[in-house]
This record gives sequence, structure tokens and C-alpha cells, in this order.
Amino acid sequence: MIENRMEVHNLTKRYGNLIAVDQLSFKVKKGTAFGFLGPNGAGKTTTLKMLTCMIRPDSGTALLAGYDISKESMAVRRSIGYVSENQGFYNRMTAVETLNYISRLLDIPGNKRQKRIKELLGQVGLADRRDKYVGTFSRGMKQRLALAQALLAEPEVLLLDEPALGLDPMGAKEIRDLILNLKKDRNVTIFMSSHILPEVEAICDEVGIINKGKLLVQNSVENLRRTTGIGMKLKIVLAQPDMRVVAALKKMSCIQDVKVIGQKLMIYTTVKDEVRPQIIDTIVKSGGRILSFNIKEASLEEILFQVVEEGEVSK
Ligand SMILES: Nc1ncnc2c1ncn2[C@@H]1O[C@H](COP(=O)(O)OP(=O)(O)O)[C@@H](O)[C@H]1O
Ligand SMILES: [Mg+2]
Repeated sequence: MIENRMEVHNLTKRYGNLIAVDQLSFKVKKGTAFGFLGPNGAGKTTTLKMLTCMIRPDSGTALLAGYDISKESMAVRRSIGYVSENQGFYNRMTAVETLNYISRLLDIPGNKRQKRIKELLGQVGLADRRDKYVGTFSRGMKQRLALAQALLAEPEVLLLDEPALGLDPMGAKEIRDLILNLKKDRNVTIFMSSHILPEVEAICDEVGIINKGKLLVQNSVENLRRTTGIGMKLKIVLAQPDMRVVAALKKMSCIQDVKVIGQKLMIYTTVKDEVRPQIIDTIVKSGGRILSFNIKEASLEEILFQVVEEGEVSK
């Protein structure tokens, strides 16, 4: 059985009249990564602050690594790592001093500390900067130090608020690879908010989409493709235009739409791989000769826009 490492039940936070987070419920299985998506002001940071015991929910609660954020905040803090939106470091401390300082706050025993710090600095690629002031670090380096800090206590659950925000593509890729390795090698459960959708798609097994405090969906990216109805686009070029082929394709129940542009056919379907052989068969049997076959999946961005839009419409 796969264990849940996060269970969120009706988590709610109000600021005056504003419901920043509204009855949020979801689960994240051990060793998987959950991407928390949504526009600015959706309630992502507020959720992360509640989950990491920085602020208290008005109602509802959550279990992280089996501990209740409302009743066992110390145990929660010891079991999780957190990279916050605006990680603050002391500019006049070196990387090693920073990690030493945080280790003391976390009560990591002195004999383990140095080994752990050395290991982590290597892991996040800061070994050669260990004695440099954090004030001289680039944003990417600070973000890697933040990740090292979050991993000091060997957390079971790692929570990240926009880990690649403001990083250049290289920096973003470094962070992404680090997170992927943590998941693969250490079976860490990951919860991350992000705006950078290709990053989320690369890391996350499941995504939740939040808007105005409400969770609109929780699903795998693949299932979202199926259920949002904007799944796949096949571009097929035929040796010559052939209306018999188009007619035969339009009869197939797995196909939503066929557009014809000269000898090019654009086929829209929400069903995955298994229908491709049938589509090719149909074309060949009705006399078509295929020059090229090209498949494009809807991007997570297209899916996100669709879900947020539908959420607005159904209100
Ligand atoms: N401390 C606060 N006081 C009042 N309103 C807040 C506070 N923190 C966040 N909010 C409001 O709550 C909503 C959700 O904010 P936030 O969780 O930061 O969104 P996100 O991280 O998704 O961009 C926003 O409308 C924001 O203005
Ligand atoms: Mg935020």
C-alpha cells in the first residue's frame, strides 16, 4: 500500500472578508511530487505557510509525515523542509556559517553536523563557495543554499514555494535536477508551487490547480489531458488530399474534430496512444498515403488555462 505523506482536510484561511484558502482538501502519496498551480493571489503561499506551521488555519487541518499541523507543530517542523518564497539569509555569513547556524536551531547533533553540511554543499553544487559570504551569491546560488538548508534535517516531506522564480533557464534546470534526484534517490515527498509549467510537468506526478482559494482539480497531467478534452493534436500529411479519408476519420468515435488544409489533416482527440494505430489503419484502408505523422500533446499551460476558465464559467 502506498502511504500518504500529506493529507489536507478542509484547510481554510481568512484575511478579513477575503477567503484566501477555502476548504482545501487533497492527499499526496509518499515519494511523489505534487505541483500546486494557480494564478497570482490564488492562495498558494498562504497554503504553504499553514502547512509549514508559519500561520494557523482558521479551520480544517493537515497531516504532514503523519503529524497534525494544529496539534503537533514541533514534530511537523522536524519532519519537513521548506524553501519559502523569499528566503532571507544573513549577507555577512558564509554558506557554511549559515548552515551551521540553522543546524543549531534544528538541534542537529554537533558530531553529525559537519559531515551533513559538507555533503549537502556538494549536493547543491556550492562546495567551492562554502566560505564565501552569502551576500555575494547570485539568486540561483541563494536558491541552492535554501534547498540545502531545507534538507539539513533529512526531511520526509519537502515543500517549495516557487523554487525557480527569478532564475535563468540554467539555474532553473539545476534546481529541477536537484529536486528530481531527491525524489528518485531519497524517496522524498515533494509539494511545490510554481508558475513555470514545463518545470512542473518535468517534476510532478500530480498537479492541483487552485484559484481564488479553491482547489479546482487534482490529477495527473496525463489524466488532465484526457478529462479537459484538449488532449492530443495529430498532424498528418497525406501524399494527396483525399476526402474519403476525411469522411472515414470523422466517423471514428475517438476523434473530436478533423480539419483539412490542402493535403494536411489536423486531428483532435482526447484519447492517448492506443488510438494511433486505429487512426493510421483507417487512413490506409480508405486509400490515404501518409507522408508524415506528428503528435503534439496539449501543454500543461493550455490545460491550466482551460481549467481556470471552466472554473470561472461554472460559478
Ligand atoms: N497577511 C495577509 N494579509 C491580508 N491578505 C493577505 C495576506 N497574505 C495573503 N493575503 C491575500 O490572500 C490571497 C492569497 O495570497 P497568496 O497565498 O500569497 O497567493 P499566491 O501565493 O497564490 O500568489 C491574496 O489575495 C493576498 O492578497
Ligand atoms: Mg505566492
